Amino acid sequence: MSKTATTERVVIFDTTLRDGEQSPGISLDVGEKLEIAAQLARLGVDYIEAGFPIASQGDFEAVHAIASSVRGPVICGLSRTSHSDIDRCWEAIEPAERRRIHVFIATSPTHMEHKLKMSPDQVLAEAASAVARAREYTDDVEFSPEDASRSDFDFMCDVLRVAVDNGAGTLNIPDTVGFATPVEWAERIRAIRERVDGDYVLSTHCHNDLGLAVANSLAAVSAGARQVECTVNGIGERAGNAAMEEIVMAIRTRPEIYPDLEVGIQTEELARSSRMVSRLTGYPVQYNKAVVGRNAFAHEAGIHQHGMLNEPSTYEIMDPLAVGQEGTKLVLGKHSGRAAFKDALAKMGIDIHGDVLNAAFTRFKELADRKIQLSDADLEALVAEELGGPVDHAYDLVALEVRGGTVNTPTAELTMEVDGTEVSVTAEGDGMVDAACTAIKQATGVDGRLTDYTVMSVTGGVDALADVALSFQSADGVKVSGRGLSTDVVEASARAFIAALNKVARVRATGEDPNAIDRPGHLG
Ligand code: KIV
Ligand code: ZN
Repeated sequence: MSKTATTERVVIFDTTLRDGEQSPGISLDVGEKLEIAAQLARLGVDYIEAGFPIASQGDFEAVHAIASSVRGPVICGLSRTSHSDIDRCWEAIEPAERRRIHVFIATSPTHMEHKLKMSPDQVLAEAASAVARAREYTDDVEFSPEDASRSDFDFMCDVLRVAVDNGAGTLNIPDTVGFATPVEWAERIRAIRERVDGDYVLSTHCHNDLGLAVANSLAAVSAGARQVECTVNGIGERAGNAAMEEIVMAIRTRPEIYPDLEVGIQTEELARSSRMVSRLTGYPVQYNKAVVGRNAFAHEAGIHQHGMLNEPSTYEIMDPLAVGQEGTKLVLGKHSGRAAFKDALAKMGIDIHGDVLNAAFTRFKELADRKIQLSDADLEALVAEELGGPVDHAYDLVALEVRGGTVNTPTAELTMEVDGTEVSVTAEGDGMVDAACTAIKQATGVDGRLTDYTVMSVTGGVDALADVALSFQSADGVKVSGRGLSTDVVEASARAFIAALNKVARVRATGEDPNAIDRPGHLG
């Protein structure tokens, strides 16, 4: 967005290291917090809420270490209203260049009665005295009425007013339990501005219990909030906090909805920040997570892939490189079409057309039906299988059922097309592969022996493709090789064997030199 005289900054207040770290099961040590804080500074957040210094010695040390070494963002510490909390908070953030104390106290009837065991008057007095104490240390004091969405509006405004009167420059309105909905939250933010006079920045802090944290934060921005409290990947208590990457990219991507607003984030650092927070907290990022998920810019449906190959804006509203992702991914899976298949091969330098392309695409669809996604290595093996075999097949696999185990003799039930006629046989063997090959010999009537047999996994993982390569010498001395690919080793072996027998049939029919057709194809 181009900056104008009226452009206003939406302050990004990151609380990954405070509210985010309060997620169940997350416990970061000082070194890990320092690593994340340094990345947040690179990302360009305005504030880092580094922790809650009174909570533990570890929290205190982490906040102190961040305040001592991280430059750029203002370093903030959280504090309850008691003066000893505030004093400890100040001690922790003091080494920072710029510092903020964030004081909070609950204002909802439930919290006042059951948690604080304080009357509304006591809460008012606590808020006033805490903000005043914090102001003795720094000009930058933020005040939050905890559980604001369930607080009596008039009472909450009374508390906000005493906070402003005692020097709070930022009023942060937390939807502590993720109870609010966007329209209602926007109304509340707007109403606070109308009811509480003074020179302060309105801030919003939303939790995600109803999955509305980002929507509520953006509604608050539209209603006048100029600070958003959020975390990387949306981590936080229970269902988490508002996800920073989503808020930032909504404001950047839709300037007509958020006119004259800017955020100071280096968006190219978003994906890296997400990966770092995920790695250090052990919280995985869901594949389809907006902006930073690994599928956020991946397309599998054939129609979408075709559109993307013609013009990226057909199915993408953001540039993946602008958020630090590697780029658009056209994932090859069962929904992909011929255009994406051909494009993927072309990117690997594989140039095939006509019957070979058609045959490879048919095999690709068969394999993709069984395997979720096909990697480049899978494609390479698949094309090699097709290039290695004659296009006009004498023999084709129709169906194969193999039973094995430690008790019964391995048995294969096979149906094949042999010169255009369907043939079914049953055969036993020493193992399941042997039973399948014996059945193939019976069905085709080709006799001979395997002289070499290797099986490789194309990629890692339990759904990896098995790539079988074998050599065969027929009883009349024709030497050939065959290659087969499948998610199942026995089927891959059967396919490799049939590919080899097709070559035998071709040699017999044409008198061709078997070595001339026995080379795996050129993969570029
Ligand atoms: O959710 C909340 O209410 C908080 C406050 C401490 C701001 O995290
Ligand atoms: Zn919170």
